[in-house]
Amino acid sequence: MKKIAIIGAGYVGLVTGACFAQKGNRVTIVDNNQDKIDQLLKGAIPFYEPHLDIIVQDALAKKTITFVSTIQEALSQQPEFVFSCVGTPSLPNGAADLSFVEIVAAEIGMHMEQYTIIVNKSTVPVGTAAKVETIIAAKLTERNVKIAFDVASNPEFLKEGDAVNDFLMPDRVVIGVRSEESAEALYELYKPFLTSDKQFLVMTQPSAELTKYASNAMLATRISFMNQLAHLADKLGADIHQVKHGMAQDRRIGAHFLNAGIGYGGSCFPKDVAALVHMGMEQHYPMTLVKEVENINHVQRVWFSHQITNHYGPALATKTAGIWGLAFKPETDDIRSAPAIDVIKKLLEQGANVIVYDPVATENIKKIFGDLITYADQGQQVLQNADFLVLLTEWAEFTTTIPSHFLQLKDRVVFDGRNCFAPEDMKALGVSYYCIGRNSVTDDVPLNHYHVAATQHDSSAWQ
Ligand SMILES: NC(=O)c1ccc[n+]([C@@H]2O[C@H](COP(=O)([O-])OP(=O)(O)OC[C@H]3O[C@@H](n4cnc5c(N)ncnc54)[C@H](O)[C@@H]3O)[C@@H](O)[C@H]2O)c1
Repeated sequence: MKKIAIIGAGYVGLVTGACFAQKGNRVTIVDNNQDKIDQLLKGAIPFYEPHLDIIVQDALAKKTITFVSTIQEALSQQPEFVFSCVGTPSLPNGAADLSFVEIVAAEIGMHMEQYTIIVNKSTVPVGTAAKVETIIAAKLTERNVKIAFDVASNPEFLKEGDAVNDFLMPDRVVIGVRSEESAEALYELYKPFLTSDKQFLVMTQPSAELTKYASNAMLATRISFMNQLAHLADKLGADIHQVKHGMAQDRRIGAHFLNAGIGYGGSCFPKDVAALVHMGMEQHYPMTLVKEVENINHVQRVWFSHQITNHYGPALATKTAGIWGLAFKPETDDIRSAPAIDVIKKLLEQGANVIVYDPVATENIKKIFGDLITYADQGQQVLQNADFLVLLTEWAEFTTTIPSHFLQLKDRVVFDGRNCFAPEDMKALGVSYYCIGRNSVTDDVPLNHYHVAATQHDSSAWQ
């Protein structure tokens, strides 16, 4: 049983804390958002993440978890490990904003009482562990105290929607350290989650920090690769869905992250790809491949929205667009950098009415669009009230819809950003079906039009 403090009760911090508590550790979770802490003390989870509520409520009942609102209070419990899990959003130039990480490091330095291993779980650029060490050391000097500490880099690889399982049964645990003692201590802490010691990967801090960006950039690359290939497939009369299956049977390639669609969004890929590009620029070594991955992703969103505006022309202003799916992916309520935000903005700009439905993300999208759009309680309500449908998140309740239900749409038009249905079924029903790379799309505006614009960072091209 170890004493652990977790700073930041977001998707990463809360899952981390809850899973450590489930293994019998004593966990104190800090968040400076008092509303979050008040909810958590009552056993309510401030965001949607399957299975997390049960673990948190169980830990509360067993008193293995507590929630507090200041780092000082958490450190007064004298934890052996302090996990920093605060956000690292993008700055306008693409660099990761480290202000939260730095504030947390300073507070740790101000309030640490004995030897502590400070573990950085946030996704941070190479060099951040060293920066955190410097900040803490400076605060200790200011206090005129000598307390030993170690900083470890421990990037998190969980995926929202399946975060609890990912944490409890990780593919790997990456640890970047400067001392063997801290590696040993972290190994003991993580041991209950490992099925093999080979999953515990010890390396230098810079390698651990870069591993996280490399992993996300690789996944984003697969998506952009398939999206670019999908357009070529359309032109050549191939079907990207069939091509994917042909590729995925190769064990060296596998099936993951090979779906063509509207492109990636979410709280991680866009900002992490941008941060990797920025790291390259700082080192005067342009990450040209990763930059192109980013460009292709921008292009894909613009192109998708233009399918709608091209189909309707000025008549779009007289139409009601129905949106299925607001979250950036299924099984989460996270709408950070979600395609739905851009698509809805575009539709409103063109004067369309918009009615939306998502099983869990509606409250979050309301914070952006307020009463500018209509919120449905069920997917069916959207079909009954819209002229056409735009499918943006592949929730199971959407992908398992019987296609004949789309006949309720006044115009019988579906724009599918996730390639969920068979074009031939839709054609047989008399539904105009726009999808990606499956020979169903009229590509009125040449793709390279968007491409040049996005490459030149003409943001108006993709807003
Ligand atoms: N969300 C994911 O799927 C995921 C996966 C892997 C890695 N990451 C990385 O983990 C980090 C956290 O991501 P997240 O999605 O959990 O973020 P989040 O925004 O959901 O949570 C961050 C939390 O930190 C709190 N916070 C900020 N400053 C604080 C302070 N000084 N004291 C106490 N609390 C403070 C915020 O109130 C917030 O609740 C990011 O670097 C992200 O890139 C995220």
